[in-house]
Amino acid sequence: MQNIFPVCFNLWLYLLGVLSMYEAFLQRPSISFLASYATYLTGEPVSLICQMTTDHTIHGYTFFRNDQDVHRMERSSVNKYKINNVKTSDAGSYTCLYWVSDSRGKQESEVSLPVSLSVLDQPSTPSLLIQPKQSLYFEGESVTLKCEHPPIMFQANYNFHKDNSKLDSYRDTLKSEHYIPSLSKKDSGLYDCQYWVSGHQRTVRSSESIPQSIMVTALSTSPLLNFLPSYTTFIKGENLTMECVAPSPVHVTLYRFYKEGQEFKGPSSRQGLYKLQNITIGEQAEYTCMYWSPMSNREIPSTQSATREVYVIDPILPPLLSIDPPSGRIRDGGNVTLYCTTPAKYERTIFYFLNETEEIISISTYKSQTRAAVTINMKKNNITSTIKYSCQYKADIKGRLLLSPKSPHVEIIVITSASLLWLIGIVVAAGIVILIIIVSLIYWVLLSKKGLLTKRQKYSPEDAEEESKPFSEGGCKVTSL
Ligand SMILES: *[C@@H]1O[C@H](CO)[C@@H](O)[C@H](O)[C@H]1NC(C)=O
Ligand SMILES: *[C@@H]1O[C@H](CO)[C@@H](O)[C@H](O)[C@H]1NC(C)=O
Ligand SMILES: *[C@@H]1O[C@H](CO)[C@@H](O)[C@H](O)[C@H]1NC(C)=O
Ligand SMILES: *[C@@H]1O[C@H](CO)[C@@H](O)[C@H](O)[C@H]1NC(C)=O
Repeated sequence: MQNIFPVCFNLWLYLLGVLSMYEAFLQRPSISFLASYATYLTGEPVSLICQMTTDHTIHGYTFFRNDQDVHRMERSSVNKYKINNVKTSDAGSYTCLYWVSDSRGKQESEVSLPVSLSVLDQPSTPSLLIQPKQSLYFEGESVTLKCEHPPIMFQANYNFHKDNSKLDSYRDTLKSEHYIPSLSKKDSGLYDCQYWVSGHQRTVRSSESIPQSIMVTALSTSPLLNFLPSYTTFIKGENLTMECVAPSPVHVTLYRFYKEGQEFKGPSSRQGLYKLQNITIGEQAEYTCMYWSPMSNREIPSTQSATREVYVIDPILPPLLSIDPPSGRIRDGGNVTLYCTTPAKYERTIFYFLNETEEIISISTYKSQTRAAVTINMKKNNITSTIKYSCQYKADIKGRLLLSPKSPHVEIIVITSASLLWLIGIVVAAGIVILIIIVSLIYWVLLSKKGLLTKRQKYSPEDAEEESKPFSEGGCKVTSL
């Protein structure tokens, strides 16, 4: 035994070497699907093929599923493995090998790299749900399309169709819902949906859902919101009637008025009229109106009317009139400037200067000017010496021209040349009189001073110098002696 063991060991080693050489010679085959994809629907036939590059006399092939679960087919020259009605339970990882028989016995090749078989159920037909469901939709309403189907194991992708072509607005194909926020007339049509799952190099589509229709009708033409009277600016306390006018042939069941977007009910809004009496500042707002007309069991709204603004103001105040020269006394032939000032700024103001009987001049301004001036030459032969002037203005407040009350009067006294001479005469005469009075006063003072000096010189002559001080202090003290 002791002698045999090394011999046996050497032989075994030799055999092992030959075997490994031979095995290396039998190259690993490759396994693939006969079709170019690896994903199958239940019931479809699947064919796997075991191939190798070099030419051999191959006696048989063996196919494996998930390594353990073995399917063997020990028939020569059949390198295909076919499943006629694939089931989900057939899914898995497939490998194969081949074998040859020769004098040395049956030799097996290496096992191929695996391929994976996926099996899907045929996707069931989805159904399209439209929420909310209406027989008729209005422009601007919103709907949600939902593509519904029983749950599936794979991530599905969705398509929505309108009139058999892809819906452009739907982009994220992983979402089974599509929201249309604002329907328009061109959204009318037949809609369906479909979903698909992607396996290995294969896309499996469901059939299309039963189509659902969406009918969109345009809103009725917008009404006109009229104001009677037709202007925008109202003075507090005035009356305004609003009228919502539908285009002529429409049968209207309801009118509604809106103030700053909020509906309000007027006493006669059923007739499309709304009266604002004794208007107040609280009614300054933007107004619109709408109407409803019946169609297909729904009341179809109109689009909103154009917005109309109501602007409420206090009555406008009279202007102020001032003059230059401010005294209002002007020589005949001289110029006097009248200034008319408004208490507020307006987009456009027309100033009117008036005398007692008529308008003298009007001045239009466009530059939100609050003051206008006019220079009048007081060249007069025969008017009375006093002229009264006043002014007023017309303000353009958002398109409405409002005339102000008149300003208080100013009086201008024209002094004619004759009266001027007379005035000069008086002034000269008065001047002469004053001059005479002054001269006689000085004369009298001097006279009194002379008398005093002569009196004091009789007393003490030295005192004369000292006593001269109080004298120089002023006539008052002297005259009191
Ligand atoms: C507003 O209407 C009322 C009632 O119709 C009327 O008495 C009033 O004089 C009107 N006011 C003005 C400013 O027109
Ligand atoms: C108009 O409204 C003012 C203030 O709201 C009120 O003082 C006045 O009496 C009202 N005039 C009429 C005619 O209703
Ligand atoms: C009065 O104004 C006119 C033109 O503005 C001028 O020609 C004239 O000299 C002025 N007269 C006096 C007295 O200033
Ligand atoms: C006074 O003026 C008026 C026009 O303003 C004229 O018709 C009338 O003849 C004038 N009288 C004198 C006395 O100049």
